[in-house]
Amino acid sequence: MAGGKGKQAKFAELGQMPNVFQNFDYKKPELVGANGPIELKGKWDELVFKNGKPIVLELACGRGEYAVNLGKAFPENNYIGIDIKGNRMYTGAGQALEQGLGNVAFLRTRIELLDHFFAPGEVDTIWITFPDPHLKKGAEKNRLTAPRFIELYRRIAKHAATVNLKTDDPILHTWSAETCTELGLPILERIDDIYKNGRPDGPLGIKTYYEGLNISGSNTSMYLKFALH
Ligand SMILES: C[S@@+](CC[C@H](N)C(=O)[O-])C[C@H]1O[C@@H](n2cnc3c(N)ncnc32)[C@H](O)[C@@H]1O
Repeated sequence: MAGGKGKQAKFAELGQMPNVFQNFDYKKPELVGANGPIELKGKWDELVFKNGKPIVLELACGRGEYAVNLGKAFPENNYIGIDIKGNRMYTGAGQALEQGLGNVAFLRTRIELLDHFFAPGEVDTIWITFPDPHLKKGAEKNRLTAPRFIELYRRIAKHAATVNLKTDDPILHTWSAETCTELGLPILERIDDIYKNGRPDGPLGIKTYYEGLNISGSNTSMYLKFALH
């Protein structure tokens, strides 16, 4: 599973990976795994992890650095990386298999459809890692911390669930905190510069591909943790 492969070869391999589940038609809430169609809503533990441990999502996972590295560091949890881009998740899914991480899986779908694939209360914790900041005027509704997404997370998460947002975009960071305040959601932690005054030796120090690109130009990684209720 070395690099240098074309997209088609990656897609073919992705379809054979036992830890990958894909929603090929966004108009239909159907998933296909390596063994064919599979219904996972409310059944991730019964059919995939089989260990009764909490389920943690990494949204906009890209290559899935958080799903893989947290999965390795915290075997007491299960992790699911979620993204629409199969060629990106190919990297993380392959690493999880190579490293024998039975507590790490990947779901290829649009985040907007999450409640088709998870039952109420099935999710314990959510990470959102370097999501697109959608900076254009009027595009705020597309941010993964917009009220409509928070409402969606509330539908699938446990009452005590938390959301962890890591971004290098100061506008998204501040706007997300303000959104929490407007919605009355408790902000549990806010770090404006992880590598200067955060805890970079723990989970917050896991570096993702987009973090390295420094697209925002801030050269600063920020963290926001908030409760969903
Ligand atoms: C800026 S990248 C960050 C990827 C990765 N977390 C990282 O830090 O390297 C944003 C990711 O969000 C995914 N994405 C954007 N909108 C999405 C949606 N509505 N549903 C699923 N994935 C989405 C993109 O495919 C992309 O991989």
